Amino acid sequence: MTIAKNASASAGFLDMQAQVGITKHMGGFEATDELLALCHVEDAREVLYVGCGIGVGATAYVARKYGCRVVGVDI
Ligand SMILES: C[S@@+](CC[C@H](N)C(=O)[O-])C[C@H]1O[C@@H](n2cnc3c(N)ncnc32)[C@H](O)[C@@H]1O
Repeated sequence: MTIAKNASASAGFLDMQAQVGITKHMGGFEATDELLALCHVEDAREVLYVGCGIGVGATAYVARKYGCRVVGVDI
């Protein structure tokens, strides 16, 4: 999966949607950061992201934030 170059702009858009309650990214990036901390992603070199959507939101965010390789899958 190619990492989107506009990941931070996408993250801002999703955060804005989360704040006003119209989001496909439940809990916004605050919830994502909480989950990533629980999963100890900071120690990972590779992450399997199940339910990645089109991959430009949280998937690219994880890769950028932790510098790891992220493989996304979605139905
Ligand atoms: C709320 S969206 C979040 C998309 C992405 N994680 C993001 O933050 O932009 C949930 C995603 O999970 C996917 N999904 C739901 N059930 C799934 C399953 N059983 N296996 C893989 N993906 C699934 C949906 O197709 C959808 O793209």
